[in-house]
Amino acid sequence: MRKILDVISEPLMEAFQEAGYDAALGKAVLSNRPDLCEYQCNGSMAGAKQYRKAPFVIAAEVEEKLRARADFGDVFEEVSVVKPGFINIKVKGVFVAKYLAGMMEEEKLGVEKPAAPKRILIDYGGPNVAKPLHVGHLRSAIIGESLKRLGRFVGHEVIGDVHLGDWGLQMGLIITELRERKPELPYFDESYEGAYPEEAPFTISELEEIYPTASARSKEDEAYKERAMEATGELQRGRRGYQALLRHILDVSVTDLKRNYQRLDVSFDLWKGESDADPYIPDMVRMMREKGYAYESDGALVVDVKEESDTKEIPPCMILKSDGAALYTTTDLATLVWRMKDYHPDEVLYVVDKRQELHFIQVFRCARKTGIVGEDTKLTFLGFGTMNGRDGKPFKTREGGVMRLESLIDGINEEMYRKIVENHETDKEEARQTAQVVGLSAIKYGDLSNQASKDYIFDTDRFTSFEGNTGPYILYTIVRIKSILNRYKDGGGDADACGMRDGGAATKPLMLELARFNEVMENAFEEKAPHKVCAYIYNLANEFNHFYHETKILGEEDPQKREGYIALLVLTRRVLESCIHVLGFSAPERM
Ligand code: ARG
Repeated sequence: MRKILDVISEPLMEAFQEAGYDAALGKAVLSNRPDLCEYQCNGSMAGAKQYRKAPFVIAAEVEEKLRARADFGDVFEEVSVVKPGFINIKVKGVFVAKYLAGMMEEEKLGVEKPAAPKRILIDYGGPNVAKPLHVGHLRSAIIGESLKRLGRFVGHEVIGDVHLGDWGLQMGLIITELRERKPELPYFDESYEGAYPEEAPFTISELEEIYPTASARSKEDEAYKERAMEATGELQRGRRGYQALLRHILDVSVTDLKRNYQRLDVSFDLWKGESDADPYIPDMVRMMREKGYAYESDGALVVDVKEESDTKEIPPCMILKSDGAALYTTTDLATLVWRMKDYHPDEVLYVVDKRQELHFIQVFRCARKTGIVGEDTKLTFLGFGTMNGRDGKPFKTREGGVMRLESLIDGINEEMYRKIVENHETDKEEARQTAQVVGLSAIKYGDLSNQASKDYIFDTDRFTSFEGNTGPYILYTIVRIKSILNRYKDGGGDADACGMRDGGAATKPLMLELARFNEVMENAFEEKAPHKVCAYIYNLANEFNHFYHETKILGEEDPQKREGYIALLVLTRRVLESCIHVLGFSAPERM
């Protein structure tokens, strides 16, 4: 479906042309003076320079052509030229109603499939195995999931990859600590040739305790650290027992990670990790050497990636350490090798903490320079800011430790539960379930309503409030609509059979807001900006609630008018639900 702005622009553009001006000047935009008009056209101002004429004169000529059109009255309610040359526009209610009726016919409410859908791979989540998910991983999961859903909604093929941190020293540390504790296990016996046990020699809670213990010990005990580095090297060189341990670590960890991500309603198509890149490293390194991109510097293997236009120093990209070990850059580059080979994506989008920006500049440049990624594939880094506590410092537990994601979710759900039972009497079990659904909206909306690149303050009180720019407020609005629609149904009405109609001044602002839907969604994806979807539904919810407070809906006596209201409710609900789906949460039946 065409954007409503394009539909309104068409007669304006033709009028500009008929008056002897460039048609492109006739583009209409949303009004920046909603007190005066709904849309406006500023083309006369741009045309003034081009045609050396006063903008007011141009606007008046265009207005005349516009008024002379046979379809003028179908679209425009009011057109006026104001100094210095703006064309202010109000459109007919029936015109908007017709547009909305068209939206209702479509599954995606007027969002059209792109002419050339893209295949986009999103790298998000990025948890590290054997470490519990903590709040530092929350933003990547929330933002990445939302972009995945948004991309799919607007018609692209989107593949989500979790890109586990499962390579490098952390693995060596776990292996070393395990060896200290249980040296008798067959994994450590190099002469062992039999099959390894199916069952992992640890549980998830043991694993989560082993890693921090090992990490702390390696900082004090040099020899221990040496052993861990040696184990890392042996693992990377393919030592059988260690590979088997890695698989155990992955199994146990991934099961737990999946459970955690499920609580966030976040899911991945691919559960690949850094370790999956390992088989591609030798050939990649050989290619970089042979083609002369990589050279030795202080024993390490590096590729220069600085460019003349750089304003700050971009150090060379490290490919191998002097001991031959792979680095974070190495696995990211080799990951691109298999991503290109297996998926040929049009774009690879990384949703990662913005403090890793330099790393991605190096990786992207190196991948392009060495031909791993060709010109047809876009590489995008979406760096997000830090989630801070109310003191403005990175979010911590009350004791000052890193907060586990689970505890954060539990805390929010508890607060939500308290509010729900305080609000009205409900069944305890139902209230618990509702608290989970609403709690998720509080967390996700609290995050997504901020521009991703900015830091934000995680404020439980504000995020869980039923009022203001919050997830629960949006859900409250949806629940309100559902309840009116249920009452309508109980009274024998068929909401889906109701036709959209112009409801006059009471419905106009809500209708105009609804009509923006396709434009907002496409633009939000274009700019990778879920916060624009949030801003939109906040406005929409406000317009709906305003309408609700001003209007008798079910009590309206004129049946046709009442049906028009119901149709409007049906559409508002569909638009809001499509948006929250894209943001990654859903609405309960009651709250
Ligand atoms: N595991 C990393 C971390 O915790 C994030 C991974 C981001 N993705 C990537 N391809 N490097 O910092």
